[in-house]
Amino acid sequence: MPSRDHYWLPFTPNRSFAKQPQILVRAEGLRYWNEQGDELLDGCSGLFCSALGHARPEIGEAMAAQYRQLDFSPPFRFAQPAAFELADDLAQALPGDLDRIFFVNSGSEAVDTALKIALRYHHARGDGERQRFVTRDRGYHGVNFGGVSLSGMGNNREFFGPGLPGVLHKRNTLVEANRFTAGEGEHGVELADDLLGFVEAHGAESIAACVVEPIAGSTGILVPPRGYLSRLREICDEHGILLIFDEVITGFGRTGKAFAADTFGVLPDIITVAKALTNGAIPMGAVAVRRGIYETIAKSTPEGGIEFFHGYTYSAHPVACAAGLATLKIFREESTFERAAELAPYFLERVFELEDIPQVVDIRGFGLLAGIDLDPTEVMGERGSKALERLFASGLVIRVTNDTLILAPALVSDREHIDGIVDRLRATLPTL
Ligand SMILES: Cc1ncc(COP(=O)(O)O)c(C=O)c1O
Repeated sequence: MPSRDHYWLPFTPNRSFAKQPQILVRAEGLRYWNEQGDELLDGCSGLFCSALGHARPEIGEAMAAQYRQLDFSPPFRFAQPAAFELADDLAQALPGDLDRIFFVNSGSEAVDTALKIALRYHHARGDGERQRFVTRDRGYHGVNFGGVSLSGMGNNREFFGPGLPGVLHKRNTLVEANRFTAGEGEHGVELADDLLGFVEAHGAESIAACVVEPIAGSTGILVPPRGYLSRLREICDEHGILLIFDEVITGFGRTGKAFAADTFGVLPDIITVAKALTNGAIPMGAVAVRRGIYETIAKSTPEGGIEFFHGYTYSAHPVACAAGLATLKIFREESTFERAAELAPYFLERVFELEDIPQVVDIRGFGLLAGIDLDPTEVMGERGSKALERLFASGLVIRVTNDTLILAPALVSDREHIDGIVDRLRATLPTL
């Protein structure tokens, strides 16, 4: 067996992992298999990626065919057909006039690209003083320097220097009075006015954009209070601030409609996506921008000039585009988002049944997303880690952040799969 000393795992306690490795060797549908051949339920769509379940043959076949046809082509000053096709499909799926698409390779790159587009846009309008970003405590926007600066997670920022200057963090949307609420809570809409507070304190003319996940995902499924996102939209409109929705998790049916922007009826100026765009089969992300933003940037650039000095070697990689096209085709042909919307009430009902377990101190959920807070022991995260290990041993793979368990079953799950997840949680959580 090759040495296991060389691989440095991301976001993992590597030394503990080495003593008790959790290794997955195969995936199909809603299941994984470990090294010993045991079957495990996938409770988190991989990492919010595999919305259609694992190893859909159509996606693999589309990637292989594209590889044989055109494996790579340079994305700067050249293009290939699948990039146009995928941008077109995405533009059709996105709300409003969010129809100019910039391709990247991950959620982190999507966020940093969106920030640069916002700055570039204000500059094009002669409003280049707008350089601040307003974001939120307990937000997660990836790990590149822009996204890390926006993130409201202490561990992710500590040790990495000052980051982007001028980032302002609003309070998160956890409200005690909304504990154990499925869907949007009735309390806390006024938290959106934190943005107004920053406008008053720093001047709207210094703020480029407000960046939020419509539902904060990685920090534990923090569902916005009713009216919160539309209030943010109002404040942004009043003060010329762009509204950016980071839909890396909420995009592609997770909330029951194509995007959380559709579900909550709020049209942002920019949407970032990744993960389920290719069903997790190959890395890819995208930034969708309202037409007027693109046009403003284009018009400010002399004819023949490059409008946006930004891009990645693997932007619109042909094989990733093929995976994206195949994934979006399945979403359309199988009405995947509608199916997710139908399953969501059952999922939430079953997950909220766990509220009687003494170790459980809060549950939140929306669509096919749920967060379960465990009562922390004296050591923050200890109970969460134990939960992850014991659930793995019981045949369930989920995501844990500190002492919060996160569930995001595939959109194609059935009731039996949801039952399997909840039964394993019910058996394991009281033992922690
Ligand atoms: C909302 C959000 N933004 C950005 C990212 C970063 O994506 P990636 O890990 O693909 O860089 C994530 C990852 O979970 C995310 O949830």
